[in-house]
Amino acid sequence: MTTTPDLPALGSACPHVGRLSDMMRGLQETAPVCRVRTPAGDEAWLVTRHAELKQLLLDDRITKAHPDPDTMPRYLDSPLLDMTVQRDHATAKRIHNRMREMLTPHFSARRMAALRPRVAERVGAALDAIVHEGPPADLHAQLTVPVSFHVLCDLLGMADRETFMALLAAPTTVGSEAADGAEGFPLFGFLADVVATKRALPADDLITALCESERDDHEVIAMIATVSFSYLVTPHNMSVGIALLANDPVQRDLVAADPDLLRTAVEEVLRMGKTGESLLPRYAREDIDIAGVTIRAGDLVLCDHYSASYDDRVFTDPDRFDVTRSPNPHPAFSHGSWYCVGAPLARIELTEVYRALLARLPGLRLEIPLSEINLAATNQLGGGIGELPVTW
Ligand code: HEM
Repeated sequence: MTTTPDLPALGSACPHVGRLSDMMRGLQETAPVCRVRTPAGDEAWLVTRHAELKQLLLDDRITKAHPDPDTMPRYLDSPLLDMTVQRDHATAKRIHNRMREMLTPHFSARRMAALRPRVAERVGAALDAIVHEGPPADLHAQLTVPVSFHVLCDLLGMADRETFMALLAAPTTVGSEAADGAEGFPLFGFLADVVATKRALPADDLITALCESERDDHEVIAMIATVSFSYLVTPHNMSVGIALLANDPVQRDLVAADPDLLRTAVEEVLRMGKTGESLLPRYAREDIDIAGVTIRAGDLVLCDHYSASYDDRVFTDPDRFDVTRSPNPHPAFSHGSWYCVGAPLARIELTEVYRALLARLPGLRLEIPLSEINLAATNQLGGGIGELPVTW
């Protein structure tokens, strides 16, 4: 890609709950695939519209590999993201397929049905404490973060939750000079100890199951890390949904009066769950002609699930929160071979949180306007809502 001086700069748009930022709307109107500058200072193609996003997510020429990782264009200056990029497509594909093959059975309908009562129990216990303390409450800190974190730990079979929580947050703030491959992240050392313990003392959990089907500790650790980092968006989506419901008494009361609406309400929350750029770096391994541009081999391609969720070519009145919206072909869980492995669990968590919340706190409302919700952490990996003050 040749250097272009005046490109729209990603990372500069103000994030919002429940609507597309003006900058992203502008880029979406301009073209389905636009050239932009990333926060790391490199050039990239931003995919802004639903149809082209789906098309590229199904295109095998889009990969998580780059032949020259030292000079590849980057989205963020993040050693953690760099670690996910392989040197060649065949290796990237092998790792990706193996990961999906090993993880997918653990999110089957049968396993999820067995997990649902545990999720409901976690939600109930957190709500007991919130109701006991009385309003106001920060439902991000007191409900969605602890519930989703403990559900993850229940699934994995994680004993030392305090250390795990602290280490999971740490890599998002690690600077490039501080990290040297996996060894640069204390989380990986911690996970190595966890894997050794599970091999010695197996239990009925996901980490033990991964240890039983994979002899290589590095592979098991990489999979636990993938699940753990992937889960990080869950409390954020849950909190955005609470904010949208608490902000709109009509939509809130519709769901409260008819819990059958939880299914479409959860899909609508997923559609609107992103609050800013939500970009997944990929590379073209061959030239790709799409929507009047040519993406060259080696170019960085940013698949924007956020903008595509507000594409009015697909969603009528996309800035409107509508708990009855159907069909709702949102791309929140990505598409094709990239589709979120944990989607069934995420859907259960969101459903159980909203079911219990609306039953226990029917008068739920925001303490501050929706536009003032603290989104300080949005540009960090897995970040998002910082605080969610509500009353009832
Ligand atoms: C609302 C919550 C969630 C959303 C919006 C979400 C979204 C996504 C998206 C967009 C991807 C594609 C990433 C990519 O292309 O690189 C993905 C992948 C993944 N997600 Fe989720 N996710 C959620 C919750 C979860 C949970 C709870 C888990 C597991 C505990 C999970 C596990 C995974 C895994 C393992 C992948 C990797 C799949 C792959 O690379 O093939 N996710 N998720």
